[in-house]
Amino acid sequence: MSRSAHPAGPRHADVLPEQLPSGPPDDLNVLASGIWPASARRIDGELYLGGLPASALVTRYATPATFLDEDDVRERARAFATAFAGGDVYYAGKAFLCTAVAGWIADEGLGLDVCTGGELAVALAARIPPQRVAMHGNNKSRAELERAVAAGIGHIVLDSFAEIERLAEVAAAAGIRQRVLVRVTVGVEAHTHEFIATAHEDQKFGFSLSGGQAEQAVAAVLAAPSLHLAGLHSHIGSQIFDTAGFEIAAHRVVGLAAAIRARHGVEVAELNLGGGLVIAYVPDDDPESPKEIAQRLTAIVERECAAAGLAQPRLSVEPGRAIVGPAGVTVYEVGTVKDVVLDGGHTRAYVSVDGGMSDNIRTALYDASYTCTLANRASTAPPKLARVVGKHCESGDIVVRYTWLPADVRPGDLLAVAGTGAYCRSMASNYNHVPRPPVVSVRRGTASVLVRRETEDDLLRLDTGVSP
Ligand code: LLP
Repeated sequence: MSRSAHPAGPRHADVLPEQLPSGPPDDLNVLASGIWPASARRIDGELYLGGLPASALVTRYATPATFLDEDDVRERARAFATAFAGGDVYYAGKAFLCTAVAGWIADEGLGLDVCTGGELAVALAARIPPQRVAMHGNNKSRAELERAVAAGIGHIVLDSFAEIERLAEVAAAAGIRQRVLVRVTVGVEAHTHEFIATAHEDQKFGFSLSGGQAEQAVAAVLAAPSLHLAGLHSHIGSQIFDTAGFEIAAHRVVGLAAAIRARHGVEVAELNLGGGLVIAYVPDDDPESPKEIAQRLTAIVERECAAAGLAQPRLSVEPGRAIVGPAGVTVYEVGTVKDVVLDGGHTRAYVSVDGGMSDNIRTALYDASYTCTLANRASTAPPKLARVVGKHCESGDIVVRYTWLPADVRPGDLLAVAGTGAYCRSMASNYNHVPRPPVVSVRRGTASVLVRRETEDDLLRLDTGVSP
């Protein structure tokens, strides 16, 4: 049975095994450190983001809305750029992309990783230097490759033999020699959710090391006059707490680089270890800093290359979540509060907010954990076990599966969910014809809309049966 299938029966709302969260924090009003954006404060009971009170933000932008702390994004981007100064840092735009964020990233010295024509279109609209754009994707179309080549992007990460052929033709037709990386599947079982682990063998990305595919791919690239092998790439998954996975990946990719030199006499100039660096969603999460990560990865690659007698390659990474995730907060309005008695006599409050799985699918999809707090006021009411749910017609429409909220939480309260800067707006849908919320940047007392709220008119505009 698949993870999400469940037998008919009385516990439809509880597809996943039931477990109670750890006990309530001493003070529900405290913003747990490392989880909220750098500018988040509670002042006179109210949550402030970027120097602005939640109530004023909501009066101006309504709910739900995601607020992105610009200084926090820039600071994180800078920290990565500094930590990996000897190589390149590509921000993975799939985490969240709009022209403004692409601009911030470029200002801070990072490159941008796109993985579809749509993301490339945003990069080009943002007018960031094309040579700082890299393109991923396991099924890039000829049209996407043509657009990428015509734009002059820095490199394309190759993912299949069909693509090597396709890109070789496209680049030859354009009369250029395109820089490429070969994406290697290193066979690491990353300890993360099954759907976001990418380097074990039985999945769709990259060229497998074990079957010799990666070496064949490299040989095909070296044989194509319109392609230039700029390096090797490995991405083992997302939200990887166990950094041993990166060590094994580095070890295996360096092994391939040694084989390439032995067979073809070519030194691999760049090693890109992908993204997957973690953030804190809940107080128990304890991510390493970019500096610590860089030191560790650099040490591994240096050691492995020295052992193999290889020159040190440039070490590059592609963090997405670790740059925008913690900078984002989604603010909802509470619409209903319903107490439900659980097996064992506990009561859980179902707190319904005015968004849900259409603006944050991660809880439903990955059983993700989030931290939330009342945003419009502090409360001294005792804690009560709560589940924050959305307004969609599905019992799996859960935003925060386990949390404690003040017992006096009530309709009209504002609820802020932390860590929503990455993979929330970028994975949003219009399920139940709910328009997608805006993303608003906040910075030192000013706010501006990065992506406006969708309207019902936007949705109806796509329906050819509606008269103009
Ligand atoms: N590079 C490559 C080749 C990737 O596939 C990804 C993410 C990244 C970099 C950035 O990974 P990050 O540093 O953000 O973990 N939707 C999932 C995550 C899927 C990530 C897909 N690839 C989630 O919400 O957790």
